[in-house]
Amino acid sequence: MVDDRADETEGQHANTSRRTFLKATGAATATAGVGTGAVSAASEDREGKEGHTDIEAMLSELTLEQKVGQMTQVDVGTFDPDSTEIPDSFGVETLGEYFSELELGSIISGGASPPTFDAEETVMGINALQEYNLENSEHSIPFLWGVDALHGNTLLAGSTSFPQRINMGATRDIETIEDAARHTADSAAAMGAHWTFAPTTDLQRDPRWGRFYEGITEDPTYLGEVSKARVRGLESNDRLCSTVKHFGAYSIPENGNDRAHARTSMRDLRTSLLPPYRTALEAEPKTVMVNSGAVNGKPAHASEWLLTQMLRERYGFDGLVVSDYDDFYRMLSNHDYTDSFRRAVKEGLNAGVDMYMIGNGGEAPGPAEFIETTVSLVEDGEISMECLDESVRRVLELKAELGLFEEPTVDPSEIHSVLGGAQEESERLAEESMVLLKNEDALPLSGDENVLLTGPGYDPVLDIENRFLIRHGGWTLGWQGVQEGAPTEGGPRPRGETITEAVEGSLDGELTHVPTDFRAQPYNPETSDANGDFGFTDEQEEEVREAAGSADAVVVILGEGPHNEGFGDRDELALDPAQRELVAAIEEEAPDTPVVGVVLAGSPRGGAETFDSLDAVVFAGQPGSDGGRAVAGTLLGENNPSGKLAFNWPESVGKVPNNYDAYPPLDDQEPLYAFGHGLSYTDFEYSDLSVAPGSVSDPASTPTVTASVDVENTGDEAGEHIVEVYNTQSFGSVLQPNRRLLGYERVELGSGESATVELDLDLSALEVVPGDVPGILPKVVEAGEYELSVGEETTALTVEDAGSITDDRPAIGFDPDADGDDYSAVVEFLRGLGR
Ligand code: NOJ
Repeated sequence: MVDDRADETEGQHANTSRRTFLKATGAATATAGVGTGAVSAASEDREGKEGHTDIEAMLSELTLEQKVGQMTQVDVGTFDPDSTEIPDSFGVETLGEYFSELELGSIISGGASPPTFDAEETVMGINALQEYNLENSEHSIPFLWGVDALHGNTLLAGSTSFPQRINMGATRDIETIEDAARHTADSAAAMGAHWTFAPTTDLQRDPRWGRFYEGITEDPTYLGEVSKARVRGLESNDRLCSTVKHFGAYSIPENGNDRAHARTSMRDLRTSLLPPYRTALEAEPKTVMVNSGAVNGKPAHASEWLLTQMLRERYGFDGLVVSDYDDFYRMLSNHDYTDSFRRAVKEGLNAGVDMYMIGNGGEAPGPAEFIETTVSLVEDGEISMECLDESVRRVLELKAELGLFEEPTVDPSEIHSVLGGAQEESERLAEESMVLLKNEDALPLSGDENVLLTGPGYDPVLDIENRFLIRHGGWTLGWQGVQEGAPTEGGPRPRGETITEAVEGSLDGELTHVPTDFRAQPYNPETSDANGDFGFTDEQEEEVREAAGSADAVVVILGEGPHNEGFGDRDELALDPAQRELVAAIEEEAPDTPVVGVVLAGSPRGGAETFDSLDAVVFAGQPGSDGGRAVAGTLLGENNPSGKLAFNWPESVGKVPNNYDAYPPLDDQEPLYAFGHGLSYTDFEYSDLSVAPGSVSDPASTPTVTASVDVENTGDEAGEHIVEVYNTQSFGSVLQPNRRLLGYERVELGSGESATVELDLDLSALEVVPGDVPGILPKVVEAGEYELSVGEETTALTVEDAGSITDDRPAIGFDPDADGDDYSAVVEFLRGLGR
């Protein structure tokens, strides 16, 4: 098919379009042997090994600027830099030049914002654009379309919006998370996408950061395992590739400000921040995206240590590395690292980036400038041709692996059979992610009560109910949440039922609903601490007081608006004052009525100042399409909550960072709710904890042991329960984290039932970087005695000799004699320290 297209297009262009571009960029060099004659000759030879397209032949046909074109990716949602409107189609008229002129390798619809949210229009649009590309570009190389399908294929109306990542973490249900990813892959591929920029594998560390909700957990081992499963799921469809992002250490920006510099240590990088990516890479994702920030004084995009030495040489990644949005330019605009775009491009490509993602227009250089700059860098010998070819090869290989040369377009009928599916998985994850933080006999409701349901959920300007925005969160039919937080009545939505509808459907008593003011203003930094404008008008107060006075129970929704990236950064974790006034009014009006808070948020929002006034609190996170059902089911006892926090809920913002695996001392660091906290409507008791083998002579050869514990449901309700084994005490040559999660298992037990639960414990979670401050020695599980705990039950595991499980080599980068032998250089280095 490629041959045919190449033959058809050969000569047609007479290189006019290319000339226009060359004029525009001033670039004029073609690589040896390239020209229309060479194109057709080499084209005949394209079907190479294993039926795959002959990449080398193709590579040899491309001019230098065409090669760089393949390394270029552009956001099509923002094609017109003067317009903030999303184009209403894929517009061959507006986008066509990307292919006929620049032969771009890839386009994206960043921010879950395709030109249209309509499934059919999207598929037809992308097919038409691809066909245009194949007909009008000189080499007819199909483009890759990348999207942010991050919690479902949430680019289309009617899609299933799975619970956000903060919810996924609470489930400890890797299997269902993988199933959800599989559905996402099928839906995104049927839509015509080839690439999703998931899974986010950035370790939760700071709830002030606007992307906290995208983290799964603050436990590195659990995060790695979930991310690995998501890679498997997302790449289960041959037409879609995943992206492990944002490599590495993106999640600890100073002050919680997105894309600020990350100050960390070699020990912390090697123990906590990088291991989740390493584990995810075991599933062989086809691509990796780079951290937009800077780490220890170096922009990640310019870090050869991160992108080549660690990622490729140490972790063995051989796929494609894509930059994040405009991030070569961000070295100038954000990091003040250089004032030269040319230098930024040079450092980025030499460090290991294969494809440059270009966003918004505005100040940032567009594709023509990137191509021109790179061409001139190669011509001047500042980027080698080998380096460039390697990147282009990766782009072309990715296209071949995804079958784009054989089938560049998709069957438009497929999307309808998959859109909005996997409801069972979505419901399961939503239910499993409900975390009951507090319950003083207020829950579950019997269902016979007359209930007042209130809390943010009404947009006073648009005059519509809008609580669903909070339920879905960011990356849902828009970057900052549905249509950037300004939905129209009846406008496009993911599939789903609201909390109000679901409660109404299940309650036998009467429901009074008084939504209070909430305006999503995601781009307004003034409101970003609360992630929205919240209000409690006099009329609403009157209605709330009247209804509360006669209600048998009050359910008050609390939390924060949808948000994303820097616009979501917050300096506060306490709830917005209007929400606190609402709680105070209910408390005053109905002091003896049970009041239940449901927190819908992407961070640990709220503290004792509000929760002390509530009789029960459910953390529902951002539970997505089936979150309405899950919340209603939890309130009414149809779902016995089983979610467990996968991060510490700090007492207040002043206690941040407040990580569960912090080093001692932990005085004054007690969280409000600890990692692993989550109540149930029944009780579980443990006994007979043991571990086998109880002693491990070498963790390298015995990386897993098995714990066994008896669990009994001693309460009156059936329920699911997550049994967790932690390491709670150990000593070594360096500080040991306060607690480390070693294994977890979900069990389901009827009232009075018990079971013996066996759990595999991953000893790599016990690895530390021994040695002094530099933190450069090989990681090991040190010899010693490790206390293991399940609830109050404890036992001990003995490690006789230290051993490495995940990596027995010292840190990279200590090779001053440049002989490629890090270890001897480390020895020298340590000797030097001793002198
Ligand atoms: C910037 C974000 O950091 C990244 O996660 C996302 O995939 C890209 N934009 C594309 O939208």
